[in-house]
Amino acid sequence: MLITKPRPFSLEWRGSVRSRFPDRHTKAHADDLSWPKFEAAWLLVDRGGTVALLGDRGTGKTQMAYAMGMRMAANRGTRPGDTFAYFRADDLFGYCREWIGIDADSRRHNERNLYDVPLLVIDEVQDRLATEFEDVSLTRIVDKRYGNQLPTVLIANLQPKDFERHAGLSITSRLMETGAMVHCNWGSFRAVSAKEHA
Ligand SMILES: Nc1ncnc2c1ncn2[C@@H]1O[C@H](COP(=O)(O)OP(=O)(O)O)[C@@H](O)[C@H]1O
Ligand SMILES: [Mg+2]
Repeated sequence: MLITKPRPFSLEWRGSVRSRFPDRHTKAHADDLSWPKFEAAWLLVDRGGTVALLGDRGTGKTQMAYAMGMRMAANRGTRPGDTFAYFRADDLFGYCREWIGIDADSRRHNERNLYDVPLLVIDEVQDRLATEFEDVSLTRIVDKRYGNQLPTVLIANLQPKDFERHAGLSITSRLMETGAMVHCNWGSFRAVSAKEHA
């Protein structure tokens, strides 16, 4: 019987692809933080759902996604780098555009990593260009992962009704079936920390 060792998740392609949460979020004391809808959102992610974290800036959406990634790594006993990948949407689609120019094997390898990583987080989805290429790429990524029953967390500084319009029917129907739009409708943590330091 042929036994193939699972390949560790890596999106390094000639050193040009970086997948990591911002230092601001990895250096915060994630264990001490809590959010009103975190546990409900986590349950959906843990079951392989597609989840959108939506709402105003500063409500902790990126920090929540990092906490989910770290919890998943802890639960599975896997390294964070093998467990989740994080991209801002504009960086991710920049990479996807670059990959068009590389050889087919490398491109497939990179794309497969996006489809196979246990948790994929795509942040600042509202900042992507509303081009057909990006629409098709985002839909394909969400769709492949939905097919693989793997969770995808999309983050946008948008209200749910605006996100529905922005993301399109194919993505929102996946969300409604396996996950949810989680409206982070509480105050900004940035305002609190600014006041605390005043
Ligand atoms: N539950 C929390 N308690 C305290 N500070 C938090 C919490 N969640 C996030 N923060 C901090 O608030 C700031 C904004 O969080 P962030 O995740 O960047 O918000 P968003 O992605 O919604 O704009 C960051 O500095 C983050 O570390
Ligand atoms: Mg954010």
